[in-house]
Amino acid sequence: MKLVGISGSLVGAKISEAVFHVLSAAKAIDSNIQTDLIDLKEEEVELFHGPSLAYYDQHTWDIVNRITTADFIVFATPIYQASISGALKNLLDFMPQDAFKGKVTGIVTVGGSGKHFLVGEYQLKPILSYLKGIVPTNTVFIHNKSFTEEGDLEDEQAERRLHKLAEEMIALQKGLK
Ligand SMILES: Cc1cc2nc3c(=O)[nH]c(=O)nc-3n(C[C@H](O)[C@H](O)[C@H](O)COP(=O)(O)O)c2cc1C
Repeated sequence: MKLVGISGSLVGAKISEAVFHVLSAAKAIDSNIQTDLIDLKEEEVELFHGPSLAYYDQHTWDIVNRITTADFIVFATPIYQASISGALKNLLDFMPQDAFKGKVTGIVTVGGSGKHFLVGEYQLKPILSYLKGIVPTNTVFIHNKSFTEEGDLEDEQAERRLHKLAEEMIALQKGLK
């Protein structure tokens, strides 16, 4: 089974660190799981402007392909203006309508205000559900204070929640198979 993690931030290290924890936890739970991290700050994804994928460059194609060929996917995003990042929304705009059919799609958000802990549920979950993704009951919000200046996660509770998310995603995906 291939698990793809998407880091939806164009700056900083916190989001990729959070998604890396989910991928590492998944590997620790089942070493047969292949993992692939797509960090949007390392990738040049074109700006979606309406037409189908055929009108975009090879690199954008390749990124979309890495996602659509995954068995299951975990999305991590910073919270910007009480919503997900524009970079992640742009990537999701490329997805065909059934992109996540039969796939578990996990959610991790990182924000500076605890008031926005439900952004994943209210802003990202409807998009993943529209694309037919199966969203686990564990959605993880991490306060940005849980990270060091360098972007390392230093919060045992948050680490446990990311591990639980990985566990639930694997159990659900195996159940679907
Ligand atoms: C333009 C902007 C808007 C933001 N809006 C929110 C917000 O509405 N709610 C929130 O909890 N955090 C908000 N934040 C804080 C970010 O979610 C937080 O700094 C997060 O850690 C960013 O991740 P990064 O440092 O890896 O890019 C905002 C940050 C920026 C730069």
